[in-house]
Amino acid sequence: MSSAVFPDLARHQVENAYARWAPLYDAVCGPIFEKGRHAAAAAARQVGGKILEVGVGTGLSFDDYDLSTEVTGIDLSAPMIAKARTRLATGLYPHVKALMVMDAHALTFPDASFNCVVAQFVITLVEDPERVLDECARVVKPGGEIILVNHLYSEKGIGAAIERFAAKPSRKLGLRPEFPFGRLLAWSRAHGGAELIERRAVKPFGLYTLVRFRRLGARAQAA
Ligand SMILES: C[S@@+](CC[C@H](N)C(=O)[O-])C[C@H]1O[C@@H](n2cnc3c(N)ncnc32)[C@H](O)[C@@H]1O
Repeated sequence: MSSAVFPDLARHQVENAYARWAPLYDAVCGPIFEKGRHAAAAAARQVGGKILEVGVGTGLSFDDYDLSTEVTGIDLSAPMIAKARTRLATGLYPHVKALMVMDAHALTFPDASFNCVVAQFVITLVEDPERVLDECARVVKPGGEIILVNHLYSEKGIGAAIERFAAKPSRKLGLRPEFPFGRLLAWSRAHGGAELIERRAVKPFGLYTLVRFRRLGARAQAA
């Protein structure tokens, strides 16, 4: 399903962009996304247990977890995962169990494998966000959470105008400024097995939005 504003990114756009980003990502994007990354990981730690990081990138979030968690990271981009593997090889992150090149549209994990699925700055730029969310919901246990953090579309005013203007050029960078929150909400309603439990702006500037869904058990889903 395409956004009402501009089409979703194609897989080749994402792969090309992150192959270029990989050597620069930590220096350029690391500080820009830091607050959002910390907020999502803090929410995931509250859930604890087995955590899947979808679109783990270079592994900047490894520092945000501890031994109360067991983290598995997947990413479509082999160059980004290579950076994450170099970080893991420092031996500083015993809580990181596995890193894999994998497409979030087709996760290879069995149903209900994780207590929590986290996707930091990912869902807005995948080829088919609803399918990725379906996959996240499939692999999370009942009662577990799907935690997303992203810049979302401002919807109105000067902010929205700038985001629409930047939409096309930002595709080449593997970024997307005009993804609406309503699309995430519409997914959860259509899916029926994941309820929205939190939507909040991340301080200090509120540029990013943290969104949490709780996976419902079969009984709650049927009710
Ligand atoms: C903006 S980066 C965010 C990286 C990391 N989560 C962070 O906060 O630093 C987006 C990441 O999502 C990955 N990605 C995009 N589409 C994907 C897909 N379909 N499956 C898995 N990873 C994907 C990209 O390769 C990239 O590493």
